[in-house]
Amino acid sequence: MKKILVIHGPNLNLLGTREVGVYGNTTIADIDEALNKSAKVKNVFLEIMQSNHEGEIVEKIGQAKGKFDAIIINPAAYTHTSIAIRDAISAVNIPTVEVHISNIYAREEFRHTSLIAPVAKGQVSGFGKSSYLLGLDAAIGLIDK
Ligand code: DQA
Repeated sequence: MKKILVIHGPNLNLLGTREVGVYGNTTIADIDEALNKSAKVKNVFLEIMQSNHEGEIVEKIGQAKGKFDAIIINPAAYTHTSIAIRDAISAVNIPTVEVHISNIYAREEFRHTSLIAPVAKGQVSGFGKSSYLLGLDAAIGLIDK
């Protein structure tokens, strides 16, 4: 069975009440439920984590080698700042899909740069909860390839 690691970065635990105008009412539990439902139909095993700590995310990625066939990550604010997460993805060389709930290119200038994008296979940005579901389909496609 294909194994995919899903990582939610900082503050995504607050979805549902956080900047509802930008991120909507969807909670992280809603996203995880939709992902698990889709994964079940597609016969894929998912491990899902959320962390507000950069080092914890770096460690999880570093330990993913040999355990996961793909990674789906919403690095949240670390998208724009974390060389450490970027280097971890590069180091393990596991196909990675970057996802964002909002369209980062339609927001403040500082969100237009992703340090993760160059080491990801691709990016899905702007489709709310669906960004994750599209990301899951993309990740499965990468594994099948
Ligand atoms: C985000 C976009 C980031 O710029 C922001 O810092 C987040 C969420 C998104 O999913 O739209 O926390 O990654």
